Amino acid sequence: MKILFVCLGNICRSPMAEFIFRDMAKKRGLTGVECASAATSNEEAGNGVYPPARAKLRSLGLDASGKRAVPMVKSDYGRYDLLIGMEARNVAAMKRICGGDPEGKMRRLLDYSARPGDIADPWYTDDFDTACADITEGCAALIDSLMK
Ligand code: 4NP
Repeated sequence: MKILFVCLGNICRSPMAEFIFRDMAKKRGLTGVECASAATSNEEAGNGVYPPARAKLRSLGLDASGKRAVPMVKSDYGRYDLLIGMEARNVAAMKRICGGDPEGKMRRLLDYSARPGDIADPWYTDDFDTACADITEGCAALIDSLMK
């Protein structure tokens, strides 16, 4: 099982999801799942995780210093089993990049939770605590669904 987390820039939300999911899966004993993250835009390609997001991850004991932003490409659709956006706008852009979602692999992260919805972009809100809490809740619910 391979999962790609996707947001607009791949420097805030989707890298937080990638690192939090990987850590949580390991702690909960979910094996055989790999994940990565990517962007729907080329804006930040090659850049590291935005410092406030990196600091948030560091506070959880996670080192994201090696992560660099990468744009999502059409062939990712065949390479991943699930492609998970942070908000509806991401999923719409993911469908444009991939030419649709014929196999029904695309979701929003919080749609796995009891509180379906968008995860606001902290690049604009400057609220990294809320983004991190939402991402943690979504990852926990996603792992629940994979362990059923
Ligand atoms: P992210 O936040 O999608 O959570 O990584 C953003 C980061 C950068 C930009 C937009 C959103 N940007 O336009 O450069």
